[in-house]
Amino acid sequence: MRPKRRIAADKDDIMAVGVFDSGLGGLTVHQAIAARLPDLPLVYLGDNKHTPYGVRDAEDIFNLTCAGVERLWQEGCDLVILACNTASAAALKRMQETWLPADKRVLGVFVPMIEALTERRWGDNSPPREVAVKHVALFATPATVASRAFQRELAFRAVGVDVEAQPCGGVVDAIEMGDEILAEALVASHVEALLRRMPHPEAAVLGCTHYPLVEAAFQKALGPNVKVFSQAGLVAESLADYLQRRPEFLGSGTESKNLTTGDPVRVSSKATQFLRRPIRFEAA
Ligand code: DGL
Repeated sequence: MRPKRRIAADKDDIMAVGVFDSGLGGLTVHQAIAARLPDLPLVYLGDNKHTPYGVRDAEDIFNLTCAGVERLWQEGCDLVILACNTASAAALKRMQETWLPADKRVLGVFVPMIEALTERRWGDNSPPREVAVKHVALFATPATVASRAFQRELAFRAVGVDVEAQPCGGVVDAIEMGDEILAEALVASHVEALLRRMPHPEAAVLGCTHYPLVEAAFQKALGPNVKVFSQAGLVAESLADYLQRRPEFLGSGTESKNLTTGDPVRVSSKATQFLRRPIRFEAA
């Protein structure tokens, strides 16, 4: 367990960090960051108007993600966490290489997960090596699976790991609609489909930030012997580490808020239902 550290001890005010997702899923990451860094103002933006991203093409995901990140800059967030695997897989590399100004940072959710899976310290870029897990089940959106970004990032860090990926069509829609029963039924059928191809995974990666909202259904369908990795806590821990090293990327914003491109009343009600605590959204 890493020791808890105060962030940005050299700054008088603690500035805001942005958290972006196509919809409600990023709230799982937001919640973990708020628990790990309770003094850090967070501005959440859900692009509920355009959710789901997982069935869109890469160009579309790039344009929507850039628009969302620009909106968070307006809230004084110089550092934005893409709490969305689909955007991290389909858009992040292109954003960093072609679009992002030097005084801003956008970080994705893939790398912390893979560092945990491959037993690395945050930011350890040493050559790939053998790791304990050999058979990994990946559950993600169709766009994330098609990008093969998870396998690519894994190959930089580990050798000899067999990954079987299951595109989980429909799960994000069901969650965004607030239909937990449908979401859980879809999870059971996606897990069954994967287990037919890889009967004994040692680990399962929930490669979509919506899926922790139905994590119990994944664990039940996979059985007790499969270790389920979900991103929220890992991303929060790696953000704490990043801000300790790079406090200059705390932006000028000081107020926490939740924004949506969708209908704030509807989104507040669905978010409250899934997180099982009141949460209020305002129009972006
Ligand atoms: N929560 C997202 C992810 O992590 C988005 C899914 C979607 O919009 O399809 O991939």
